Amino acid sequence: MSRKIRKAVFPVAGLGTRFLPATKAVPKEMLTVVDRPVIQHVVDEARAAGIEHFVFVTGRGKAVIEDHFDMNFELDRTLSERGKLKELEALARDLPEAGRTSFTRQQAPLGLGHAVWCARDIIGDEPFALLLPDMLHHGKQPCLAGMIDAYERHGGNLVAVYEVPDSDTHQYGICGVKDQNGALAITQMVEKPKQGTSPSNLAISGRYILQPEIFNILETQERGAGGEIQLTDAMITLAQKQDFYAHIFDGAIYDCGMKIGFLMANLMLGLERPDLGPELRKAIANLK
Ligand code: UTP
Repeated sequence: MSRKIRKAVFPVAGLGTRFLPATKAVPKEMLTVVDRPVIQHVVDEARAAGIEHFVFVTGRGKAVIEDHFDMNFELDRTLSERGKLKELEALARDLPEAGRTSFTRQQAPLGLGHAVWCARDIIGDEPFALLLPDMLHHGKQPCLAGMIDAYERHGGNLVAVYEVPDSDTHQYGICGVKDQNGALAITQMVEKPKQGTSPSNLAISGRYILQPEIFNILETQERGAGGEIQLTDAMITLAQKQDFYAHIFDGAIYDCGMKIGFLMANLMLGLERPDLGPELRKAIANLK
């Protein structure tokens, strides 16, 4: 039987250079999609999948993320004095249980692989989920919950993938796959394949279930593309020893680390909100 996925890692130490100047003093993970920080949407996804412990790999200037997942006594007292009980309850609902969060620092932004490696002591010797907080997955079933269902059937390692146009495959990590008893076994992983050489149009979307052996590989991983320690390089090594599966996410994905993805996320999630959608739709129809 597969070991239970109890912990999730959220790497939030990146510099967010694609979203400057917004990210000069504000972490990109704290930018809001409608009225929730991006990181809160992603933590909600992990909670919906039954994750019990939330591990944040932070860096300089990211302390506000820790504050966001903490109690704010002055605010709570003021809300209570003003009778704003609905708001108070909503804040309490979002708060992880005491002792269920860990924060560790990536002292220099050496790449995603290095950020994941920084969580090794907190994760220990168990499989874990990894969620890239700037990739918002929005569908009927939360992405990680679907992955955990699949993981419980076949174990191993898993990455979520989505279809991208053939002309764009050179911008993504791409998986080649084959059917294996109804599951999609990964036959190949390539980071940003040259145009015309891609094994498929299934791009890695930023959700992973990984076995703890990834940490030993990351420990000695050489720097790859962009001079950074790349997670994909370490996964390619792990795939030579362990099963790796792809999980096709059936929903919309917004890359909130990019201005256009962030704007689209706000628009689409805003349109779906019962309290905002009708008014927003009207305002769009009246645009001059
Ligand atoms: P990105 O490459 O999208 O984030 O990494 P970035 O480096 O912040 O973005 P740009 O390219 O400069 O705009 C995906 C995730 O991995 C984290 C980021 O915070 C982001 O959530 N990350 C990346 C780290 O935690 N450490 C790193 O060294 C790199």
